[in-house]
Amino acid sequence: MKIKNICCIGAGYVGGPTMAVIAQKCPEINVTVVDINEKRIAAWNDKDVENIPIYEPGLSEIVKKARDRNLFFSTDVDAAIDKADMIFISVNTPTKTYGIGKGMAADLKFIELCARQIARVSKNDKIVVEKSTLPVRTAEALKNILDNTGNGVNYQILSNPEFLAEGTAVDDLMTPDRVLIGGDIDTTEGKEAVEALVDIYAHWVPRERLLTTNVWSSELSKLTANAFLAQRVSSINAMSELCEKTGADVNEVSKAVGMDSRIGPKFLKSSVGFGGSCFQKDILNLVYISKSFGLNEVADYWEQVILMNDHQKRRFAAKIVQTLFNTVSGKKIALLGWAFKKDTNDTRESAAIYVADYLLNEQAEIVVYDPKVKTEQIYADLDYLNSRPSEENRSRVKVVNTPYEATKDSHAVAVLTEWDEFKDLDWQKVYDEMLKPAFLFDGRRLLERETKETIGFEFYAIGS
Ligand code: NAD
Ligand code: UGA
Repeated sequence: MKIKNICCIGAGYVGGPTMAVIAQKCPEINVTVVDINEKRIAAWNDKDVENIPIYEPGLSEIVKKARDRNLFFSTDVDAAIDKADMIFISVNTPTKTYGIGKGMAADLKFIELCARQIARVSKNDKIVVEKSTLPVRTAEALKNILDNTGNGVNYQILSNPEFLAEGTAVDDLMTPDRVLIGGDIDTTEGKEAVEALVDIYAHWVPRERLLTTNVWSSELSKLTANAFLAQRVSSINAMSELCEKTGADVNEVSKAVGMDSRIGPKFLKSSVGFGGSCFQKDILNLVYISKSFGLNEVADYWEQVILMNDHQKRRFAAKIVQTLFNTVSGKKIALLGWAFKKDTNDTRESAAIYVADYLLNEQAEIVVYDPKVKTEQIYADLDYLNSRPSEENRSRVKVVNTPYEATKDSHAVAVLTEWDEFKDLDWQKVYDEMLKPAFLFDGRRLLERETKETIGFEFYAIGS
């Protein structure tokens, strides 16, 4: 089965970059990315490719080459579904904010809407690919909707979870550790569908990295991978607190531990806490699924990863208050970085939001500088927490265009995102323009202690 037309529903952080890379690597396939968000689609189609809605190193170059050749962005969802042989569902699956499973389960309403729309529109057989991260056995529900509300056409459901990380999305897509494809491998039709997707990735991914499994293993592997990754961060962050009490240094500990080839060096960087749209949501989902099967010990085990992360964010903010003589009321605190990690404009669940909220509750005045995050996003993130009236967030939080505007006349500076440019700031200038004592808090272990202390900073870094 040769795929000629692909439709991807959802033009977000996954749909956009993933489809751009497929279009680039498979020039003979037409790829149409659709979304109900008109503004987002307009931005993907912006004449100036630097205005595409997602910042990822290397992405705009790929979009520039493939757009309007075999890569299209559109709001006409029906037309793209109708034309496609293969449909990727790449819509958001956030944590439920209402009803049963509120605050834990994944909200699958966007997935279900897609399934109903595909069923309504399709006039020929389709392969439907779950690209979104979904609870194990979602494919069963999808199949049920498609078969019972459709026009009698046949569907094959595949699970093809995405493992890209933001900030390195293009590299991750170009040279993935593995591509996971789950399908109904017990039937001929199922095997053919899996092969059709394998053929697409085989344009650039070595065959031995294309891993095929049954659908349920694929769905569960995605949640497992994110849980394991987040667990490593919470594990090293737990050690960071112990390091601060004992004179050990968390960087030295993580190096020593990571050199054990059974443990490995990656994902052992202590921080102010992990953020991003997925770790917390996917672990909560795992906890919910475990509880729903009565596996309370399994649920409790994974929930600790989240509890530790919440503690780390709170602990960092509390350290600032405590160090500034137990009050930050009316004091100007400069936050360097708002994105949840460097090289992305995404702020979802960023630790910065929670640190700022904590400090605002302590009546601090906040000034934020981030090289990629838009001002309105910062206010929207704070408003979403509902901690205080929106006007108050706007009057007590200033967003500025340079790091030096943020740090001037501040009582303390906190590094919350590991943007490379923060390493190379003129730290002498920062110091000279701050109020004294000049407190510097490094939530990312980005800065070298010795040089900062020589300048005169009172320096605190996570885990040392
Ligand atoms: P996102 O919010 O950036 O994008 C989702 C898009 O889907 C939105 O633009 C939304 O308007 C659109 N959408 C929702 N319902 C729709 C519908 N019925 N029809 C058309 N468009 C619709 O989300 P994302 O970050 O791209 O994540 C998508 C999925 O991929 C999630 O399940 C997530 O867990 C998973 N994932 C994300 C990442 C990541 O790095 N962000 C990595 C791997 C997996
Ligand atoms: C993560 C996974 O790495 C991807 O494989 C997965 O596809 C994705 O989630 C998803 O499902 O959404 P992402 O959240 O984009 O990717 O970025 P990461 O690099 O994993 O970082 C997540 C958070 O952990 C960031 O806040 C980062 O600063 C923090 N982190 C990461 C640490 O604090 N220490 C580390 O050692 C690594």
